[in-house]
Amino acid sequence: MARNTLAAAVAGILLAVCAWTTLKAQTPRPARSVRDGIYSLEQALRGEALYEKHCDRCHGEDLGGDEGPALNSAEFLEDWKGMTAADIFERIRVWMPGDRPGILTREETAALLALILRSNRFPAGALDLPADKLTLSQFRVERPR
Ligand code: HEC
Repeated sequence: MARNTLAAAVAGILLAVCAWTTLKAQTPRPARSVRDGIYSLEQALRGEALYEKHCDRCHGEDLGGDEGPALNSAEFLEDWKGMTAADIFERIRVWMPGDRPGILTREETAALLALILRSNRFPAGALDLPADKLTLSQFRVERPR
């Protein structure tokens, strides 16, 4: 009896997950995502130099967090899930570095975002991540594969 109840519960949960996934797939969302190789390796390397200069004192040497939160954790991706690359871009451009906000150019911000994507195990592609909000808003944030 208990086993049947358990099996029914598991089946119920599976059904719910399937229904939810189908529903989610039907909601209009940006067509591309951070998984699609949206930055270049060279750009992420430029981001690394900027990161050492402006960010590592608060976010840790390997982006793992210190005084500021980790920028490559499961929680970080969870925070941004459902949003777009433009949202993270603006968060950095307007609010960071925490003690000197506003000093980064758009190109520097894009390079830093490229580094953050790389550090979260998203693949690089052929082209740099653009620094304009409209294009960035077409890349949704997802978990890495
Ligand atoms: C003086 C310390 C400090 C420096 C320097 C700093 N940050 Fe931050 N950062 C923080 C703190 C603290 C938070 C979380 C609280 C907040 O939102 O202000 C944060 C939050 C963030 C977030 C949002 C994290 C999340 O989980 O959503 C990002 C992205 C970020 N910082 C990127 C950067 C980048 C890139 C740089 C370098 C250009 C930088 N920060 C430099 C202190 C700092």
